[in-house]
Amino acid sequence: MSIDYSEKIPNNVNLSTDKALQRALEHWQPHYLQWWAEMGPEGAQNDDVYLRTAVSADASGWANFGYVKMPDYRWGIFLAAPEEGRKVNFGEHKGEPAWQEVPGEHRANLRRIVVTQGDTEPASVEQQQYLGLTCPSQYDLRNLFQVNVEEGRHLWAMVYLLHRYFGRDGREEAEALLERRSGDTDNPRILGAFNEKTPDWLSFYMFTYFTDRDGKFQLCALAESGFDPLARTTRFMLTEEAHHMFVGESGVARVIQRTCEVMRDHKVEDPAKVRALGVIDLETLQRYLNFHYSVTLDLFGADQSSNAATFYSTRLKGRFEETKINDDHVLKNDTYKILDVVEGELVEKEVPALVSLNERLRDDFIKDSFRGVSRWNRVLERNGIPFRLQLPHKAFNRRIGAFAGQRISLDGHIISEAEWNTKVRNWLPSDEDRAFVTSLMGRVVEPGKFANWIAPPATGIKGQPIDFAYVRFN
Ligand SMILES: [Fe+2]
Ligand SMILES: [Fe+2]
Repeated sequence: MSIDYSEKIPNNVNLSTDKALQRALEHWQPHYLQWWAEMGPEGAQNDDVYLRTAVSADASGWANFGYVKMPDYRWGIFLAAPEEGRKVNFGEHKGEPAWQEVPGEHRANLRRIVVTQGDTEPASVEQQQYLGLTCPSQYDLRNLFQVNVEEGRHLWAMVYLLHRYFGRDGREEAEALLERRSGDTDNPRILGAFNEKTPDWLSFYMFTYFTDRDGKFQLCALAESGFDPLARTTRFMLTEEAHHMFVGESGVARVIQRTCEVMRDHKVEDPAKVRALGVIDLETLQRYLNFHYSVTLDLFGADQSSNAATFYSTRLKGRFEETKINDDHVLKNDTYKILDVVEGELVEKEVPALVSLNERLRDDFIKDSFRGVSRWNRVLERNGIPFRLQLPHKAFNRRIGAFAGQRISLDGHIISEAEWNTKVRNWLPSDEDRAFVTSLMGRVVEPGKFANWIAPPATGIKGQPIDFAYVRFN
């Protein structure tokens, strides 16, 4: 499954044999490049960046590393190899062959799924547009750009599906994906978390740890889809996604490491004293974590959803690791435990499994998120610092589902508005916290140098040294 780079749009879908599709995508391409010039990384379009580019859909050796100017990045259309005789593994009619074309009766729902996923990709590039101006190192700058170009490619992946399988509506949706803007009041991105700001690098690491991980779980659920082109597209996107989450996890770990070093060397614990030494206090770090985690939990949607049930029963979207789950994969007679608000308390209740698939995917995400937090706590432990980071209760600070409109404490108790107001300062980043973090953000670009608030990584990218010239400024 190698990729044809001789074409204007690199691809492994034989684009040259479908002239109408090729023309439609070649028409969309300049609009995409215009969007990139306007909304892509600020002030870096002319730099040579040491980037990974997908060159094959083989699990072994799918990527190439080398210097590229970002506007020349070879965005293209790459699907994972087809699985001979692939069947659908869940829902009504499970065991039937996967669809190679969109069934008429599921067209609207499938389009909605593709558009919702597609919209998150350019949104995150927009959210991260100015971060390069305050990068803590060249290594980090390169990682930011790597994430940005790959989110651009993920947009391409969804736009290919829209153009190839959804006719005129698909082409219109593809244009609209370039018109919405993150945070815009008139024409915002579709999902809440993708309209929040990513104003500083701590936010960026939290975003790539938590919000890109939501991406992983959505993509895993879509990788099970009965619509085979969607399954193959998302499977390949997942190979790129792993690096985004690595950037987040290792970024936060390095912030913790640096703070610990300063706390140890100067024997300080008081957050104000820690801040005075130019590093991020652990309390502020916890508040950033609380914010990004809770906002990301909302992305999974309402805890009871008839749409989720329909998407599953009609074989459009499966569960995380569907084939590893030991049940009938139809779920008609199964139940699932969710939390609900009853008379001012959170109570567990058993509901039909089919309507609670959003909640199930959210719970899978929570388990996965927890692992990284444990690894961050090991950094604290190794440094002899007693502070421990925690994931908030899943009902905390939610805007979607049963908890919306409630005030719920970090540990999952319904509280009054008055109590919330006295405690929120300790739970979510305040303007003052954000101003402090922003005050640390100065651009460091000398090879091998790092801002004072973050430790260097353990290793460089692709075997290169840490002081390698990851970006050549022109
Ligand atoms: Fe993505
Ligand atoms: Fe991502």
